Amino acid sequence: PGMRVDIGNALERVATPGVPEDALDRLDDRVADAHARIEEGRANNEHGYEALNLPGTVDTDEIRAAVKPFADSEYLLNVGIGGSALGAATLSAGLESDVEAYYLDNVDPEWVASILEEVDLSRTAVNVVSRSGTTAETLSNFLVVRDAMDDAGVDWTERTWVTTGEEGNLRDLAEKHDLPSLKVPDGVPGRFSVLSTVGLAAAALQGHDIDAIVEGAAAAEADLTPSLYDSPAYAYGAIAYALDVRGAGTNVMMPYEESLETFAEWYAQLWAESLGKDGLGQTPVRALGATDQHSQLQLYRAGPNNKMVTFVRATDREDTAIPETDLEGLSYLGGSSLGGLLDAEFEATEASLAAADLPNVRIEIDSVDEYGLGELLYSMEAATVMAGELYDVDTFVQPAVEWGKKAARGLLGGGDFEEADAVAEKTTLT
Ligand code: PA5
Repeated sequence: PGMRVDIGNALERVATPGVPEDALDRLDDRVADAHARIEEGRANNEHGYEALNLPGTVDTDEIRAAVKPFADSEYLLNVGIGGSALGAATLSAGLESDVEAYYLDNVDPEWVASILEEVDLSRTAVNVVSRSGTTAETLSNFLVVRDAMDDAGVDWTERTWVTTGEEGNLRDLAEKHDLPSLKVPDGVPGRFSVLSTVGLAAAALQGHDIDAIVEGAAAAEADLTPSLYDSPAYAYGAIAYALDVRGAGTNVMMPYEESLETFAEWYAQLWAESLGKDGLGQTPVRALGATDQHSQLQLYRAGPNNKMVTFVRATDREDTAIPETDLEGLSYLGGSSLGGLLDAEFEATEASLAAADLPNVRIEIDSVDEYGLGELLYSMEAATVMAGELYDVDTFVQPAVEWGKKAARGLLGGGDFEEADAVAEKTTLT
């Protein structure tokens, strides 16, 4: 049946804050206007809106061809950060593969060193991903990886491809060494790039069916209609916005699948970096069911009522039976399954939050496979764009993130950036 979004537990008659039904109808008019704006942006290939066109524009043949020379790889090192890592990482975490993927999205030296020790560099493909081609963490990590390959007697030029924009240090490097390269589409910001060369090349290298990912996304794209009552993605974006303005300033993203844990991380970036502007935005929090029922849930249910929780699950999954036992008090588990238990936990937690007045939303896909992930990722992007229209913020820019990038560069002597002065001005109290 495709992805489903159930907003029943976000209504005022269930939860506080909750959205009254007449307010939802009024919001639906705003959704129609926002949809028209989004369609206009898409039709004109405006920056950012273009990301929602990717199901129709991405060239999966080109991506498959680019990774073909690396088909002998047992490991993938994706060197990139933020939007240049999390989409591909979400697909890697969601789908099983014999090619083990590592995401070098931090410059913690001990961690980087431990990964480089773990992989056989002669059987490793390196994907250096940076839209701007200038990000310090990414280029530094790449220089470290390149050096490690040299030390191991591996020709890094044979094992590396780059994914970057038209210009920048990385593009120059690719040209200098004649490295295979993929282009990041111009109008697609990092955190919206999972369905482009940025997210799909790693998936192709890992042997995943990237056409099925795009098909799932295209199904979600076809569901973008002018009404939140007919469009799961818009329903999610609109209800999260409406809950936020009523006091749910925190949005806990809580998948009940280990394979979707990275999805919550991807979502947190998308939501926070797109909507956190002009004093507005809802704080995303990453959680995992059932694990976090035994930790954070205490706060969600009994702490300040300023949150919404988003539950995500797949309805079809491989299951494991729980063996029968005659241990006293545990016999109820026998004959059930781990999946059955997980579903019971999911539904019980959802109901328990509603009983405590806390708004929550349920998102379901059929299964965590290529198609399901394509649907889910595209839908959350569309939800974010819808929310951005409702907040009236500039969804596709990230000046606060750029500020930090410049400050770090300035500190390292990579240019004269006034942002770096803030470090010297720090107030210290010891
Ligand atoms: O979404 C974004 O714009 C950011 O998270 C970027 O993806 C991140 O800063 C990495 O930038 P780049 O791809 O230019 O190296």
